Amino acid sequence: MNPRSILIFILVSSTLFSTIYGQIKFCHQTLTVNGRCDATRGALDCALEFLSKFGARAMPMHCTCQNRGNSQRLCACDINASAVGSSSK
Ligand SMILES: *[C@@H]1O[C@H](CO)[C@@H](O)[C@H](O)[C@H]1NC(C)=O
Repeated sequence: MNPRSILIFILVSSTLFSTIYGQIKFCHQTLTVNGRCDATRGALDCALEFLSKFGARAMPMHCTCQNRGNSQRLCACDINASAVGSSSK
């Protein structure tokens, strides 16, 4: 691809991305899980924790990981608010 078509690709995909995500109402959720934050992929691990708890519809975004004690961590992500409401938590 030449630079110009790469630029167009980025513009189109970021527009699609914000259109899809713009329709979701996100809410901030926290989750305490076992194990400590991984230095490099802690946030990604947290996103996966949310995915396994709420399913793919949760769409976890902006995840952070904080260690809690020696063997637990607190994950926080913005997730699809309607996915939380419909879970049998
Ligand atoms: C958000 O959650 C609702 C309820 O489960 C679901 O119907 C909807 O498809 C989800 N949105 C996305 C983009 O996954």
